[in-house]
Amino acid sequence: MTSPEERLAALVSEWYTEHARDLPWRAPGVSAWAVLVSEVMLQQTPVNRVLPVWREWLSRWPHPQDLAAEPAAEVIRAWGRLGYPRRALRLHECARALVERHDGVVPRDVDALLALPGIGSYTARAVAVFSYGDRHPVVDTNVRRFVARAVAGDADAGPPRATADLAAVEALLPADRTAAAVASIAFMELGALICTARGPRCADCPVYAECGWQRAGRPAATGPARKVQKFAGTDRQVRGLMMAVLRDATQPVPRADLDAVWPDATQRSRALAGLVDDGLVHQLPRDRYALPT
Ligand code: ADE
Repeated sequence: MTSPEERLAALVSEWYTEHARDLPWRAPGVSAWAVLVSEVMLQQTPVNRVLPVWREWLSRWPHPQDLAAEPAAEVIRAWGRLGYPRRALRLHECARALVERHDGVVPRDVDALLALPGIGSYTARAVAVFSYGDRHPVVDTNVRRFVARAVAGDADAGPPRATADLAAVEALLPADRTAAAVASIAFMELGALICTARGPRCADCPVYAECGWQRAGRPAATGPARKVQKFAGTDRQVRGLMMAVLRDATQPVPRADLDAVWPDATQRSRALAGLVDDGLVHQLPRDRYALPT
């Protein structure tokens, strides 16, 4: 007898083998470092924007040692317009920690991964599962939504609850570690392509017949509406514009050149102070600015 959990995992895994996107970090033989880099880049950035940067990054820095040897400014430049550039600094620190603590080898152990700069619960498990093929629950927003709908019958996942979310996904994993690793990536892909936040494609879903949300008659979401993150007019946009000026500069940049990117002086000061605080920008004498060395 197969349990409902086993059936869900089997159906989604079968769907995955036929419908998964052909993404380069999923190819056999891709290094754990390349997988780690992809996961950090993909966390807040869509696949199509990540692809060219990831390729360029790995051809320049195929091993953690290569990245660790670079000055931070180069790393921030290569991050380009991916956004949330603190991730680039963390990845640089991560490469240096890998060299210092692990001889430049990405560890397989989740606790060792979690101890690295910039590596949280999702990324640590994603690397252990997608690269090393181990059995751990991998929980991102897409997986949480899929589980909330298929298993709990809710329209959406509630607020994240680290331990409970891990346990809920773990309960769906096959006992065999290879099968579990496939199920993990399959749940993510189904959440990304079919069981989407808005406009889920239920007619194409492999678990349509066993989905708790379908069975419950697709009740509407009850919690507060999801906030759509806006970008235009935010400090994040101003920071992005200033970073672009600094990335393109070969010399320290006078304050006036940064001020030219945005009309509102209060917002400009706040954005620049934030960048300096985050270590993404260094303030030099005579009110000039540069990427960190
Ligand atoms: N494959 C493995 N991890 C992924 C992710 N975070 N986004 C898209 N595809 C992936």
